[in-house]
Amino acid sequence: MAKNDQGGTDDAGTVSRRDFFKTVGVGSLATSVLTAEDAEAQATAPRAVGPGDVPIRLRINGREHALNVEPRVTLLDAVRNRLDLTGTKRVCDRGSCGACTMIVDGRAIYSCSTLAIEAQGKNIRTIEGLASGTVLHPVQQAFCDTDGLMCGFCTPGFVVATVALLEKIPNPTPEQARKHLDGNICRCGTYVGVLEAALNAKGVARG
Ligand code: FES
Ligand code: FES
Repeated sequence: MAKNDQGGTDDAGTVSRRDFFKTVGVGSLATSVLTAEDAEAQATAPRAVGPGDVPIRLRINGREHALNVEPRVTLLDAVRNRLDLTGTKRVCDRGSCGACTMIVDGRAIYSCSTLAIEAQGKNIRTIEGLASGTVLHPVQQAFCDTDGLMCGFCTPGFVVATVALLEKIPNPTPEQARKHLDGNICRCGTYVGVLEAALNAKGVARG
């Protein structure tokens, strides 16, 4: 094995000292570029919170609520367990039955699959916010008129989902109504009455 003028070796498969320093230089540059990117990513990354309680604010049915919850708490549990708004039901707790439907910024969502902390700054509406005093919301009234409920456990979710539909499409076709409500399940089988209520409800203002 011969020494070259940089003190490295020239044999195939070995690295001269000059090559070694070149490699180290490129490596250092790459490291410093990565570090700058990391710093930028860190600066723009969301701030980590938890795992303990953190203060949050939720705007529900036009009212501000301040509460402390762990970041893992769902919007459904925060509303039911911390704010005592128990009209919204918890059934599957995994985004498949629609019993927990709320309207957030005009869209029907599964509150069991939404974190409370994510809902901050949004306009949240629940079944409790629909009636005006003793006067039912037109959709609630339509459900009564068409017998669109039996045990009633799925009903708040269906009513809220129907409100979201009619605020978007005031006169839906049966097909549109069916499609919009297909994320809600009724174990008592009240679908005919629910669909009729969705088609009959009048006076729902566009959201
Ligand atoms: S409880 Fe949320 S979808 Fe069933
Ligand atoms: S009315 Fe009983 S689950 Fe729908």
